[in-house]
Amino acid sequence: MHIRVLPANIANMIAAGEVVQRPASVVKELMENALDAGADNISLVVKDAGRTLIQVIDNGCGMSREEAEICFERHATSKIATAEDLGHILTFGFRGEALASIAAVAEVTLKTRRAEDQLGTVVEFAGSQHLSTTEASAPVGCNFAVRNLFYNVPARRKFLKSDNVELKHIIEEFERVAVAKPDVAFSLTHNDKDILVLKKAKSLKFRIQDVLGAHVADRLVDIATKTSVVSVSGFVCRPDQSRKTPGNQFFFVNGRFFKSAYLHKAVMKAYEDMIAEGAIPSYVIFLEADPSTVDVNIHPAKTEIKFQDEGVVFQVLYACVKEALGKNSFGAEIDFEQSVPLPVFGSKYESLRDDVFAPQAPIDHEYNPFDVLTPPVHHDNSYGSYNHEPKQDYSKLFEEEPIQQQPGRITKALVISGKYIVSQAQGGLIVTSVRRARERVLYERFVKALSAGGHASQTALFPVQVRVGADNMQVLLEHAELLKTCGFDIDSLGPDTVVVNGVPDGYSCDAAKVEAMVSDILLILSDGVSSLPGVMEAAMAERFAKLGAAEGDLLRSDYEAGKLLEALFACENAEFTPSGKIIIARMDEDQLEKLF
Ligand SMILES: Nc1ncnc2c1ncn2[C@@H]1O[C@H](COP(=O)(O)OP(=O)(O)OP(=O)(O)O)[C@@H](O)[C@H]1O
Ligand SMILES: [Mg+2]
Repeated sequence: MHIRVLPANIANMIAAGEVVQRPASVVKELMENALDAGADNISLVVKDAGRTLIQVIDNGCGMSREEAEICFERHATSKIATAEDLGHILTFGFRGEALASIAAVAEVTLKTRRAEDQLGTVVEFAGSQHLSTTEASAPVGCNFAVRNLFYNVPARRKFLKSDNVELKHIIEEFERVAVAKPDVAFSLTHNDKDILVLKKAKSLKFRIQDVLGAHVADRLVDIATKTSVVSVSGFVCRPDQSRKTPGNQFFFVNGRFFKSAYLHKAVMKAYEDMIAEGAIPSYVIFLEADPSTVDVNIHPAKTEIKFQDEGVVFQVLYACVKEALGKNSFGAEIDFEQSVPLPVFGSKYESLRDDVFAPQAPIDHEYNPFDVLTPPVHHDNSYGSYNHEPKQDYSKLFEEEPIQQQPGRITKALVISGKYIVSQAQGGLIVTSVRRARERVLYERFVKALSAGGHASQTALFPVQVRVGADNMQVLLEHAELLKTCGFDIDSLGPDTVVVNGVPDGYSCDAAKVEAMVSDILLILSDGVSSLPGVMEAAMAERFAKLGAAEGDLLRSDYEAGKLLEALFACENAEFTPSGKIIIARMDEDQLEKLF
């Protein structure tokens, strides 16, 4: 073994790996530097999800020629000078690491000028090498252009995810910086398209509205408390607004975004019994604490921090959120101030409008519990057969179809609570779970569509508009083809909103459920599933089927029950759900006898 000291460029590259993991890390560091420099206007320009270009332009204090050269040196910082300074950091940066790390793994050009200087400076660095310094006219502030990230670290470059995923991370970092700074204007453009443009906002609440959307901001509850250890302020969402998609959870301490599973638990505990299982409330929570009691120097990306009195912070936060939720009543109140989003009509609207009838009550005039339903032996294999007709034809939706009168094994079904179908069969009773039957039917339909390359049948909706946020939008775009194949008709409507025009047959058409469905779909899509051919399709089919069945409407008529059973028995496996749960329970004569 021979120990050697690594050359500076290799040591820099290794150190850079800690700070710069992906394009989003560069975005975070450059934006934080701009804020530390006192900028109130920050533009982020990105090309090819940051692979080709990440540029941050600010109107902060700028740098002198000497500073512009030295800022790329490791441990070059203007933010701390002594060890004591580490104990009360109020700036985002303090290590003097970020620019050195970025310049180690990319080609960087800095153009900058201070207000007191006539001429500005342009400095070029690449792979930790200083290439040139020249004079040039420049506006006051800094303009950092980072090109060809990881050009000299092919292994890292290879590990970058798809453009949509990398862009999603960039948008997330951008939002984390922007949401807490209403007095700063921000913009983000990607491949020359505006993704988010945030003017200076009158208050934090307006900024939150701009970043998270009016539908979230309208339903926020203020929280505030002051103790000697920590002060808490900010907003949490009403319990009925919590969603299953994570993503709108923001903690800041002294203005710095951080992640904390522990404090997240404090918030979740305050919502205990108020929200559905698996739902996560949105929140933007600001903690203020004496900087000497907060250690921000425990994580290379500075996103994890340590409080001296973590247990106390937990208790204060929990009590504060709980009290705020308790003070407000969350019954079926009507919020008159809330804006009502106008429906947006998709291309299908013109063809639908003339055919909209008032729905008719599902009365089955022919109903006779002793009637016999034809055993569904000869099916046409069209899985869509039990589903509703498209909505434009309401009359058909509840129309009674003639049922062949013929002795058979299964009698026409008795529907219990819209959830179970009880039928007589083979000298006993069979009880079918509607939810599980739907899960099986949907599953086989999705598998068929995904493996055969066709499209699953679809129910047209009155268009439902859902704001998903710019980052989630990228997820939906990335999986657009898969969603279409499964029968979802989802179009983008602006940078952060989608309109749902159609859902797979069997899915609920209820607007609130469609909104919840979109958030569930996002959850499913964001969960990394194996990309092996076949495995991914089956996993997606299984999860989409479960989702559709869980959110499905109660059965409304015997006709629907009959059609569901027909579709179920046309399945390859009518006995078990894809995850192996029984769909049908049987009671034979002996078991019935034992009851009495
Ligand atoms: N946008 C900017 N405007 C003015 N000065 C800047 C800007 N960006 C960086 N600087 C100067 O360059 C120095 C080095 O920046 P760098 O991000 O590498 O370190 P830092 O911010 O001090 O610490 P950290 O590594 O924790 O981010 C800063 O301390 C600051 O003086
Ligand atoms: Mg910095």
